[in-house]
Amino acid sequence: MRVGDSYYRAVNWSTENGGVQWVEQRQLPFRFEQIISRNPEDVARAIETMQIRGAPSIGAAAAFGLALAWVADPARFTAHWLPRFRSTRPTAVNLFHACNAMEICSELSPSSNTMIECATAYADAEVSANYRMGEHLAGLLAVGERRILTHCNAGWLAAVDWGTATSGIYHLAKAGESPFVWVDETRPRLQGARLTAWELTQAGIDCRLQPDGAAAWMIAQGKVDAIVVGADRIAANVDIANKIGTYALSLAAKEHAVPMYIAAPTSTFDTACHSGLDIPIENRHDDEVMSMDGVDSAGQTMHIRIAADGVRANNPAFDMTPYGNITAIVSEQGIWRREQ
Ligand code: MRU
Repeated sequence: MRVGDSYYRAVNWSTENGGVQWVEQRQLPFRFEQIISRNPEDVARAIETMQIRGAPSIGAAAAFGLALAWVADPARFTAHWLPRFRSTRPTAVNLFHACNAMEICSELSPSSNTMIECATAYADAEVSANYRMGEHLAGLLAVGERRILTHCNAGWLAAVDWGTATSGIYHLAKAGESPFVWVDETRPRLQGARLTAWELTQAGIDCRLQPDGAAAWMIAQGKVDAIVVGADRIAANVDIANKIGTYALSLAAKEHAVPMYIAAPTSTFDTACHSGLDIPIENRHDDEVMSMDGVDSAGQTMHIRIAADGVRANNPAFDMTPYGNITAIVSEQGIWRREQ
């Protein structure tokens, strides 16, 4: 997508530098910074520390990181680098699909060029899946669902390009429509406030940032036509793991008969996972709940504590929404509607 006058992907291969290039998402919206590295450990750490986050972007980063590992350290590819990348984050299955694809590529065609080509093809496939998913989603939303609520960041930063949930919104805007988006701030890491609101504003989409607790109330008042979120893993029984807060949204959606759409590419499906209860849910550090990052009026970055010393936190990063609370899943292959 465009930032200013230039076109960027959240993560990419830099042919010029022979390395992986990514947007440092923790600096946004205050600073737009691109990192380039030829060290696969930097890429693994970027996933772990959430410089790169969002299920499809994590998968593409792992694919590029493993291509880099093959170029820089082929002798340790299988014993060290594959497990290293697989251990970076547990919930988004895209990571594991990408690692499997790179493992197969290393066995079938073990050369630096093919590994880079394989990673590039993986990322390109995600981008075209998002584009097609957006066309399907725009068709659904075009029926009159213009006031869309989204949670977390399922935008281009999370999904290499276009986004998953946002792709339909960008398609509507491209077609001359005027979608409006309620953006949940998404505590504790504020992906909605820091990333989605920034992305949409960059693209000229009308949006309002709201506290997570406001969502159910806006739904109850009839101010939300549709909820569109992404997913980190979809089990065989169509239970959905996504950012913490998605389950609560689905309850409000069901109560007030507002459609709840999940936008996810097929790389987010995990048929080996029987139900949502089998999906590993990441628990993150207390500090994310106990503190906040931001900038002061002089633009100086600050990290401040917001709870008393000695208070302990609970920080599950994802929750599971049962398929019964979902209206439809939209992927690049089309729309799957739950039978009512
Ligand atoms: O912890 P994050 O920021 O990686 O979580 C991201 C989400 O939960 C997104 O909603 C999901 O990955 C879908 S992204 C297209």
